[in-house]
Amino acid sequence: MKINFAKVSTLSSLKNSLPVFVFTEEQAKKSKLKLVKFAKENFDFTGKSSQTHLVSANDQMFLAVGAGADKKIDDLALQKIGSRIIAFLNGSKIKDATIFFDCELDEKGAIKNNSSDVQNTCNIAFGSLLQSYRFNKYFEDKKKNKELKVSSLTFAVIDAAKAKKSFADLELIADNIFLVRDLVSEPCNVLNPESYAEICKTFKKDGLEVQVLGISEMKKLGMNALLGVGQGSVKESRLVVLKYNGAKNPKDQPIAFVGKGVTFDTGGISIKPAQNMEDMKTDMAGSAVVVGLLRLLAQRKAKVNAVGVIGLVENMPSGSAQRPGDVVKSMSGQTIEIVNTDAEGRLVLSDALHYTNTKFKPKFIIDLATLTGAIIVALSDVHAGMFSNDDDLSKKIEAAGKATTETVWRMPLGEEYDDMINSDIADMKNVGSGRGAGSTTAAQFLKRFIGDTKWAHLDIAGVAWKGKGDPMAVKGATGYGVRLLNQLVKDNYEK
Ligand code: BES
Ligand code: MN
Ligand code: ZN
Repeated sequence: MKINFAKVSTLSSLKNSLPVFVFTEEQAKKSKLKLVKFAKENFDFTGKSSQTHLVSANDQMFLAVGAGADKKIDDLALQKIGSRIIAFLNGSKIKDATIFFDCELDEKGAIKNNSSDVQNTCNIAFGSLLQSYRFNKYFEDKKKNKELKVSSLTFAVIDAAKAKKSFADLELIADNIFLVRDLVSEPCNVLNPESYAEICKTFKKDGLEVQVLGISEMKKLGMNALLGVGQGSVKESRLVVLKYNGAKNPKDQPIAFVGKGVTFDTGGISIKPAQNMEDMKTDMAGSAVVVGLLRLLAQRKAKVNAVGVIGLVENMPSGSAQRPGDVVKSMSGQTIEIVNTDAEGRLVLSDALHYTNTKFKPKFIIDLATLTGAIIVALSDVHAGMFSNDDDLSKKIEAAGKATTETVWRMPLGEEYDDMINSDIADMKNVGSGRGAGSTTAAQFLKRFIGDTKWAHLDIAGVAWKGKGDPMAVKGATGYGVRLLNQLVKDNYEK
């Protein structure tokens, strides 16, 4: 979908583009626009945020969209309006529309656009762009199959050049959310650890330094916890390191992001049931967010030094797969009894976290992982579960969540849970005894690999994929995490 900004002076100049008027309740009340009067009289249009009316008034078709009360208008509310407009236009198979926010017409029908705040219009455009995403590359006939019907949207503004410039930042965020959605949606016969690492290399052109470690390098480093998970697959495991240096001082301590990249999780020898196993193609969502975030930071030239580390493996059962009962020695030196081969994410992360911490000595580490089904039981697809050893970092992440709709809910860690992951034969086991606190025992396991470094673990098993869609996206991969962490960096770590 193309997004344009243009100065529009008459409705008749729109030709085949459907005018869309967005009004808050206050604007609708005082508007002298004939069309709005018509909508008010015939469609009970009041500007409430639940209203989206396609109106036909004396040969003039238009869409009247309620934006709710003035005082509730903020960036997020505007984004949701944009998203709602696309959903409606697409449902009505409308190809082309022109959006007016905060506009009046004069007596001759010339448009007086009062929308002096470019940022407002840009936020509506951002919401509509996020909602426009489709993953339909595998249909033989894309047109018939779920292609977005809307092909272009124009936003009426006074200063088109200024709006375009200010929208560029949001467009970059959307591009990288779409990258994450693409990677997560991609089937695993296409996206495996080897092909994924090759894709990462292509991001050198965006300003990232990309380093790929293969099996022999990881063996030398002692990453046996990660390698054990991948040893049953015919695809070789990879560790990809993405680096971006944008701080004024190139020697500034970096911030670090670590992602679980299990390209497919069968469960291994502790194999999962067939029902919904196909969903486990999304088990690399954490890694995809790290890739999308790092590429975004590079593309927008953020003033920060950042590293992203992703552990890429495929968890398969086979003659060479690891068995329940195996003991592996992680890169940190700590040993792990593998009690359940389906608790593989923490094994991948243990080595990726230790490597990141010792090699880069970062200011903090945030890891993202579709780690446990238990976090879905606790929080559904509403919030990510956050586990952290640092209150200040947690508060900053919580604030970024509120600012972006990508919210987190802090969950407990605690020494009380250590007993549950102590093993009779090794330093720890990879699942907790008993049935309780599955997400916490997983996080408590990770904590053993980060030393004293400030750290937060985001369990995104519930939010990475939405079966029903949400206000910003159709159903499928959400790209959750890109906006959250970009906001965190922007608000706190750039200088
Ligand atoms: N990848 C899964 C977690 C998951 C479940 C992600 C549902 C997305 C949707 C993870 O590797 C896993 O299998 N976890 C097990 C852990 C258990 C064996 C201790 C789980 O949650 O059941
Ligand atoms: Mn698993
Ligand atoms: Zn998994």
